[in-house]
Amino acid sequence: MANNKTFTMIKPDAVENGHIGAILEKINGAGFRIEAMVMTQLSRKDAEQFYAVHRERPFFGELVDYMTSGPIVAAILEKDNAVEDFRKLIGATNPEEAAEGTIRKLYAKSIAANAIHGSDSDDNAGIEGNFFFSTRQRF
Ligand code: CMP
Repeated sequence: MANNKTFTMIKPDAVENGHIGAILEKINGAGFRIEAMVMTQLSRKDAEQFYAVHRERPFFGELVDYMTSGPIVAAILEKDNAVEDFRKLIGATNPEEAAEGTIRKLYAKSIAANAIHGSDSDDNAGIEGNFFFSTRQRF
């Protein structure tokens, strides 16, 4: 799997609070090109499938409830070293631990409502991008 793409979702809290524009500006400002993007709302089936790797975790139910609670923006992003650079840009999963200036430090409310998702590996970036986008826009 190439290392020049990653997948992101702007989560329901950030969409609801009007942060789509500011977050996309940060993403473009950091040198990522948006290759595909869609605004949609996940069904429970979608969210359970997307987060299947977390099915056994105690927070799985809360995660699915939250991710289906409102619209999200999903996108495939392109840049050299995309996965690692994007995870630096968004900051730690828990916003209380996120570095100053990161997207989660600026916009996340809590570890559950943490504003944005970024793939954790090149393989998962491919799987997650393909989950949202059809063959024409495929990862
Ligand atoms: P994300 O990077 O999208 O991938 C899994 C998500 O699970 C993570 O962001 C968090 O939003 C959520 N998550 C991780 N740990 C917890 C937790 N302890 N309580 C609630 N949600 C969590």
